Amino acid sequence: MLEPSIRQETRHRGLTLIVAATAHDAALTAARIIQGIVNEADRRHVKATLGLATGKTPQAIYAELVRAHRDERISFRHVVTYNLDEYYPISPRDPLSYRTYMHRHLFAQVDLPPESAHVLDGSVPPAFADEACQFFDRWIDADGGLDLQLLGIGRNGHIGFNEPEPHRSVAEFAALPSRKVTLDVVTRADAAADFGGNLDAVPKYALTVGPRVILAARRIVMVALGSSKARIVARALTEDPTTEVPASLLQLPEVAPRVTWILDPDAASLLPDLT
Ligand code: PGA
Repeated sequence: MLEPSIRQETRHRGLTLIVAATAHDAALTAARIIQGIVNEADRRHVKATLGLATGKTPQAIYAELVRAHRDERISFRHVVTYNLDEYYPISPRDPLSYRTYMHRHLFAQVDLPPESAHVLDGSVPPAFADEACQFFDRWIDADGGLDLQLLGIGRNGHIGFNEPEPHRSVAEFAALPSRKVTLDVVTRADAAADFGGNLDAVPKYALTVGPRVILAARRIVMVALGSSKARIVARALTEDPTTEVPASLLQLPEVAPRVTWILDPDAASLLPDLT
């Protein structure tokens, strides 16, 4: 098992900040944290509840978990997963749905029981969209909350599909439940490439797990890779918590001790020297 190469590990505003040597090392660092939780659950025969993310960033993390399952026999039989978000409306069977993404990158390649993998259903009728999200929150609560939440950051600072909402206070935003949201123009523009470059084909809405559940996770691992994230990473880590940059809420004093940011050098390139 390859150990990731770490360039810098510091405490910053109460959270842990790791700059890995490369994007691959950043993915390995995140994968090792997840593997630790999965292995511990398997050893003790207890449930591990993981909040999972989609997008480009987690792909190498899932590839490493799949490799570890294959080569080192780590088992997901005690794991329960809850995905962060899903486009709305979209069929779970749509090749571009996050359900399909998760099936392709992880679920179909490990021994996770199919009934333990939860993704918000982008095909519920509009009148039930918020209710379906409320059920998701209740399932997560009934499972005892999340042992780990894996996060990526959007170029506008979103976590899940919790887009910036500058009109809300930090306290109000942090308490938001899972719900149907309208996607930000930045988010839709960034997603257009996946939809054949056609902005009109990108769903206008999404279902997202809310900050209340995300910020309550017992461990939160945020991974950001590449120079396109450098500016927003610097804002999220150096500005005081603001609903203009939802990821900045990871600095909240009651949250930060449970948070690890994992960056590659490009994503860290606009951070002031934090040592
Ligand atoms: P990405 O998306 O991993 O595709 O960059 C991250 C996000 O928008 O949360």
